[in-house]
Amino acid sequence: MLRDTVRGLAEAKIAPFAADVDEAGRFPQEALDALRAADLTAVHIPEEYGGAGADALATVIVIEEVARVCASSSLLPAVNKLGTMPLILSGSEELKQRYLTPVAAGEAMFSYCLSEPEAGSDAASMRTRAVRDGDFWVLDGVKRWITNAGVSEYYTVMAVTDPDKRSKGISAFVVEKSDEGVSFGAPEKKLGIKGSPTREVYLDRVRIPADRMIGAEGTGFATAMATLDHTRVTIAAQALGIAQGALDYAKQYVQERKQFGKAIAEFQGIQFMLADMAMKLEAARALTYQAAAKSERGDDDLTFFGAAAKCYASDVAMEITVDAIQLLGGYGYTRDYPVERMMRDAKITQIYEGTNQVQRIVMARNLPK
Ligand code: CAA
Repeated sequence: MLRDTVRGLAEAKIAPFAADVDEAGRFPQEALDALRAADLTAVHIPEEYGGAGADALATVIVIEEVARVCASSSLLPAVNKLGTMPLILSGSEELKQRYLTPVAAGEAMFSYCLSEPEAGSDAASMRTRAVRDGDFWVLDGVKRWITNAGVSEYYTVMAVTDPDKRSKGISAFVVEKSDEGVSFGAPEKKLGIKGSPTREVYLDRVRIPADRMIGAEGTGFATAMATLDHTRVTIAAQALGIAQGALDYAKQYVQERKQFGKAIAEFQGIQFMLADMAMKLEAARALTYQAAAKSERGDDDLTFFGAAAKCYASDVAMEITVDAIQLLGGYGYTRDYPVERMMRDAKITQIYEGTNQVQRIVMARNLPK
């Protein structure tokens, strides 16, 4: 029922704008309005904070169905989960009440600030500093590749509170867009997800009350990693949605396209490609849903499964979108058809929330028992 509802909404209110959002590189306001009206911008937020209390699998289905028509728009619910998960996992009750409630109501969005210009895969080498000053913390530094930067009202910022302790000297904070000293870089010019703003976040002596720390001092890196265990599942969902959109489009196209006197779908070479695409997609979906169940239960082996789902589904999405272009031939290579956009959008799912090389490091360190 949930899938049907989101699919209907996505096809009616988000799909018609997807090509223009990509072409113009503009924010998908229509998608945000439609998701807000349907209470779908942050379905994962628990009911006690005014949310829908959707479980991890339901959240995956929402993201999947939005990504099927517009990957940029799927980052609205996905990044709200990424930004709020540190609070949900480790925040005080008071912080959760204060910051989750407006996100659940669709009044605010939340971004996640871990990466820096010199700290990507090696996240623990970050340099952003937080220094205690009485009842305040003062933050200084630059965060990079921040999805929805400038649009989000709230930011989870990881910063170094004790430089001698590497990952154990990192703490997490809530920073507000309106805090003095917060500003944003120019939007990045990207290959895909062009409707999703990616900007640097500059923190210039940002003074925030001490109660904005999430969890205890020194636990920020562990919270950031535990967050990614859950949210890599949502990137897998995004990859599944993009791949499903490309497969659906290609399947329809080969039934209509005629060469040598018949629909090209009747040629075995085409049928084998579609069979492989559907097979890989269903394997990726099964792994992603298993990871979602583990995320919901908080199973010990989520670290492996979150990384595996994100890595596998994103690799499969890349293969399927490339094959979809091949099935459309020259038409697939043009912007008159949506599959080249889907291929460009799929590429980022192999990179963000940890490159697929990092996912393999994570998997190897956490092999299933
Ligand atoms: N859960 C809880 N705690 C964890 C954890 C997890 N999954 N993984 C690590 N930790 C904690 C542990 O306490 C660990 O300490 P112990 O030695 O006591 O176990 C501590 O963190 C340090 O862990 P590591 O020694 O494994 O740290 P590392 O420096 O070797 O780094 C890494 C590991 C996996 C490479 C990590 O740096 C990483 O995941 N890098 C990729 C970062 C990433 O995904 N960035 C994406 C940013 S989000 C994004 O893309 C933005 C967007 O807008 C979409």
